Order: sequence, then C-alpha cells, then structure tokens
Amino acid sequence: MAKKIIVSNRLPVKAVKKKNKFVFTSSEGGLATGLGSIYTQENNIWIGWPGLEVIENYEQKEVSEKLKELNLLPVFLSQEEINQYYEGFSNEVLWPVFHYMPTYAKYKQSYWDYYYKVNLKFKEAIIQIAEPGDTIWIHDYQLLLLPAMLRSEFQNISIGFFQHIPFPSYELFRLIPWRAELLEGMLGADLIGFHTFDDAHHFTIAATRILPIQSSSNLITINDRSVVVESFPMGIDSKKFEMLTSNDEVILQINNLRKNFQQAKIVVSIDRLDYSKGILQRLLAFELLLQLYPGYIEKIVLYMIVVPSRDTVPQYKKLHDDIDKLVGNINATFRTMNWHPVQYFYRSFPIETLSALYNVADVCLVTPMRDGMNLVCKEYVASRVKNDGVLILSEMAGASKELIDALVVNPNNIGAITSALVEALHMPLTEQQRRMKQMRQLVSKFNIDHWVKLFMTRLLEAKQQQQSSLTRHINGEVLDRIKTLYNQAGKRVLYLDYDGTLVGFKTNIDMAFPDQELYDLLHKLSADPANNIVIISGRNHKTLEEWFKGIRLDLIAEHGVWQKRHHEQQWQSIPGINNKWKPEIQSILDIYTDRTPGSFVEEKSFSLVWHYRKVAEGLGELRANELVNTLRYIIEGKGLQVLQGNKVIEIKNIEVNKGKAALSRMQNNEYDFILAVGDDQTDEDIFKAMPPEAVTIKVGSQISAANHYVRSYHYVRQLLKQLATTN
Ligand code: UDP
Ligand code: G6P
Repeated sequence: MAKKIIVSNRLPVKAVKKKNKFVFTSSEGGLATGLGSIYTQENNIWIGWPGLEVIENYEQKEVSEKLKELNLLPVFLSQEEINQYYEGFSNEVLWPVFHYMPTYAKYKQSYWDYYYKVNLKFKEAIIQIAEPGDTIWIHDYQLLLLPAMLRSEFQNISIGFFQHIPFPSYELFRLIPWRAELLEGMLGADLIGFHTFDDAHHFTIAATRILPIQSSSNLITINDRSVVVESFPMGIDSKKFEMLTSNDEVILQINNLRKNFQQAKIVVSIDRLDYSKGILQRLLAFELLLQLYPGYIEKIVLYMIVVPSRDTVPQYKKLHDDIDKLVGNINATFRTMNWHPVQYFYRSFPIETLSALYNVADVCLVTPMRDGMNLVCKEYVASRVKNDGVLILSEMAGASKELIDALVVNPNNIGAITSALVEALHMPLTEQQRRMKQMRQLVSKFNIDHWVKLFMTRLLEAKQQQQSSLTRHINGEVLDRIKTLYNQAGKRVLYLDYDGTLVGFKTNIDMAFPDQELYDLLHKLSADPANNIVIISGRNHKTLEEWFKGIRLDLIAEHGVWQKRHHEQQWQSIPGINNKWKPEIQSILDIYTDRTPGSFVEEKSFSLVWHYRKVAEGLGELRANELVNTLRYIIEGKGLQVLQGNKVIEIKNIEVNKGKAALSRMQNNEYDFILAVGDDQTDEDIFKAMPPEAVTIKVGSQISAANHYVRSYHYVRQLLKQLATTN
C-alpha cells in the first residue's frame, strides 16, 4: 500500500540519554507540534534526526527499534554534522537571512559542504524505504536540496515541499552565495508550499530572476517539468486545545494559577528562545507600561515562557544572557514584597500547563520580528472556549494575515505594543467576544487536518496536471503517427511561426536571423512539390523578404497584414486597413518608453510595437500591464486590438489576425495534411482556426489550444528534419 513519507530535520520525538537509558519526549517548535498527529496514521512514516548527539552503533540500534514502534525512522548526525549543517548552515545562514536579519549570517564554505552532505544523507535514508506510488513530503529550510536530490533518483514520484519559515524578498535571498543551488534543490518538488502568499511570491520572483526559468501565475517550469507554488497557511489541532480545557489536570493547574495571581491580570508570552521572536522588545514594552502607568504595579504579571533552543549558536547564547539581564532589571526595579512583574521560565512545559496558561491569560502577547506562521497565537485562540481574552499579534507573523481581529502591532514599535497592552487590558467584554469569536471560527475551520488535506489534494492535482501535459508532449508514438499522415498526403500545408519556433529567443531582435541549418532545412522541405510552406510571423514584411529570398516559401508578415506567395513578386495587404490611429498611440508609447529604460517602439506598416525584452525583470512586466490598461480605453471604438506577445505589446487593426490569414490560404485549396507550429499568444489564433484534423503544436509549456507540445525550437527543427527525410 502506498505510503506517505514525512521528512524533516527534527523528528517530533526526541531521544535523550539519562543514566545510560534513552528517554523519549516531544520536540518543541511549530513543525513538530503541528504535524504531530498525522504521521501515526496508516503505514505512514516520518524520517528525521532524533536530536541526539553521536552515539554508539548498538545504541543507534536500540533507539531505532524504539522509534520504529512510533512510525519514526531516525537519521543520526555526527557532532561535526550538527555543528556545520544544523547549527552552521541551517541556523547561521538560512535562519537569519530568511528572517530578515542578514547581518547575523556567516557564509562559511564548510557550512555549505556539510549542508549538501547531510541532505544527501537524508536522501540515502529515504531511498531505502521509498517505493513507486509513495508520496514524499519534505519540510523546512534544513532540507532545501533534498527535493532535487530525490527527483534525480525517482522521476515520477510525488514530492511535496513545505517551508515553515518565511521566504525573504529577492533582495535578501540573493545575498546567499549558494542561492541558485538552493532554488534548484527546492524545484525538485512538484508542489512547493509556504504559509503566506507573500512568501510564495518572493520565492517565484527569486527563482525566475536567479535561474533561467519562466513562471506563469503559480506555475514554474524547469527542465520541462511544471512545479506549483502556493500558500497553505498552517493550522493547529484546534479540537485538542478545546478539549484540554476540560481535562482534570488542566483544571487543577488553572485553579492554582488563579489562586496565585488573584489580583493581577495575566499577560502570557510563549516562545522558543529566538531573536526572531522579539522577546527583548516585548520585555521593553512591558517595562514601559510599568513606567508610564504605575497604577498597574501589583495588578499585572507577564508570564513568560522561553523554551531553550539552539543555545550552542552564539547569537542564541547572547540572547539568553540579554533576556536574563532584562528580566532581572525589570523585576529588580518594580517588584514589591508580594509581587514579581515578570514570571520568567527558561524551560519547556507539558501541553497541560500551556493549556492552563492559555486559559487564565487575559492577554496573549505574540510579537515576533518575523515568523513564518506562529502557532502559539492560534493555540491561545483555540483555548478561549468562552470567547473572551485579547490577542496582541505582530504584523510580521504569518498568522496576522488570517487573525485580523487581533490587535495587530509593528513589533519594532515599542510604544505601540505598550498602547496595545493598555487597550487590551481595558477592552470591554463584548468587544473581546466579538473579536475572539471570529478568530476561533477561523482557527477551527482551517485546522491542521484541513491544511494536510489541502496540501495533499493539491499535490495530487499538480502531479496529474504534469502527467496530462506530458501526454500531450510529442513522443515516439505521436511522431510516427505524424510521419505516417505526412507520407500519405499528396498536398500539404505547413504553417511555421518564426521567432521562438524556428529560432531561439534573442534579447536583440536583429540577432535572431536564420542560420545555415535553418536555411538547409527550409530548402529541403520546400523542394518537395507536395509541400506548401508558409512562414507566418509578426515580423516586418521587408525583413522576411530579405531573409527568405530565393526559397520556395509563402510569407505572411505582421501577423497577417501582408501576404506573398512564393511565385508572386508583390506583397498583398489586407484591404481597408489604415494608419490614421498611429500618431495618438505613438505618443502614448513614447511616454512609456521615456519612463522605462531599455524599452523601444518598433513601427511596422500597419502596427506599432512596444518592446520590453531589454527592460529590467519585473519592471518590464509592470509597465506592460500599465500600458495595456491605458490602451484598453484609448482603443475603444477605433477598430484596434492590443496583442500581448513574448516581451512585446502590439497594437494593430482588429481585422489582423494570424488565424484569419492562415484560413484565407486554405480557401480553394484541398490540403490533406495541415501542420501549424507556434510559440506565443498570437499563434493561438492559428491553432483555433485550424480544422480538427490538423496537427497543431505549441512550443513551450503554457496553456494552449494546440493538440501537442514540444519543448523548444530545437525539437521543432528535429521534427521538420524527420519529415523532410521521411519519404
Ligand atoms: N511549545 C511546546 N512546549 C513549550 C512551549 C511551546 O511544545 O514549553 C510549543 C507550542 O505549543 C507551539 C510550538 O511550541 O506549538 C511553537 O510553535 P510556533 O509556530 O509558535 O514557533 P516556532 O517554535 O515553530 O518558531
Ligand atoms: C521552527 C522551525 C522548525 C524547527 C523548530 C525548532 O519551528 O520551522 O524546522 O524544527 O523551529 O527548532 P530546532 O532547531 O530545535 O529544530
């Protein structure tokens, strides 16, 4: 039976050696707690590091056997691997850069070497158990190279990747020396998920700018494989947190907490030790509250849990010291005989204690500087079964995109956090309930099961989509069929687009002239008297004439404005079209050209073209969209159309269309083999105009009306060569 293989750096269970015996406890962090309930189902398995430093072989065996009972498979790491791959590359390069703190990053070559090696180690572990039909779901930034490593081993297996931390803007990501390798690694997956739309968008921008690949909305095409990139905001097991509120142990702890803090409002704060969590800033905001409003003395406590994490990484060690100091200062300054303002704990707690705290907290203060999602705030919301309590949430946490009824703050603005605390402490119950109800509905609906289901369904769809586009790619069988049809025919017409179809795309349009191989091919094809070869292009008619003089070809130029049969001397233009509209449109295009370095206008006999192939990536697309929007109003009632091609916007008469031009060739001609090949949007008109028996071929991978696909102009040439020599 096909299984799901979950892979992450850390297993949801960690093994600790105590008095020569191994003890197993739950791991901390959103990834482990979030997915904790999934892997135990069916024959699924979770592969990862059990958190141990190096142990003897016989001990590894013992740990492996114990974990096997829990559907877990360990990957053991040596001390050097922990230092360089985990603490080094993962937590001293990727973590700071991805959390917008690039000055903390140390780009050491040895970190990278180990990162590569350990990703390979994970691959080897997966290969041992993966079978055809399995689904592999890889998690988080420690394993960015793994999807492509697995893809090279299993071409057809479904691989999903989910990143639990933010994906930074391109400007930050590009700082990493190994940026291209990281992106290529991730793109081995079929589906790449992030918590927020912004993260997904940043990834797509980085991938298309750094690698020579293209994207179309949420699809990236790499090596002829399409990869879906989408956002899936992660949820929690909300039922579990609701149920915990009536658990005996939790009720006992709630009562104890209430007894201890009778007079005081409780503000709760729970995080792993991390500079991304804004713990110091939060303490400063609390200190400011006590300074500005002494009336809160003895009337409020900040109950702060900091869970030890990565404390061998220098920045974490320093942060720990800084927190200790600041808490010490605040308590020393404001404490009274019966009261400590900050109840600070540097350790982890069982879920029952967390639940009790969520229950008694009047306010939950979650103010990370950056956070992929943040599950603590969702756990607080799910625990508020009476719909009271106030959540203060950083706008830099992924969760703030969903929990819009929280008091949303900028975590760098200490004064704003203090004000939010005051607002929360005075919020009327009805207002608390209004906000909390909305948030609870959301957390309950978009829970962890929903998240897993959504991701898995999308992964399945992405795979099916890939396969159906693959079946439309021309393979040996289809090629044989086309050759047979070609051979059996006595009168053929071949419509061939030029740029992107017969030659590659060049930044300088004048450089895309035909080469000798293409000339030889066209000569050979046109030498067959049964063939009528038509070059159908958006190019200027004079250029086409110059290039193809002396070859028995029919030419259709400027998308159909001009036509010339091989035996004719003169070009014919479509009757009744005019140029009176040009000056007005030209003046608009000039404005855009002045505003957009690298763009230029080309004038054709009956059209104007705005080119942006030399414009900075991103800016060109932005201006093109603006231009199309502007033109949409201006062309109204003028009998014009705007065509969006590959890095061009073309304005021309509405009557001009490659499809109409191609059809006009077929009147009075009975062809028994029709072929049309093209790569861009304007060629879609040809595909749509063709009769059903025609063979239509799209070059590239964008959605098309053609019935077959080939990958690039090289394949078109190969195909034509085979046809030319097929008799
Ligand atoms: N947590 C825990 N033990 C504790 C404190 C917190 O297991 O003593 C859990 C908490 O319930 C939450 C997770 O750790 O599920 C923290 O996840 P979050 O997404 O908020 O932050 P991350 O640590 O993943 O950055
Ligand atoms: C975050 C990351 C996880 C990581 C967890 C705990 O949630 O997204 O990948 O496992 O923190 O960090 P640690 O370094 O202890 O595994």
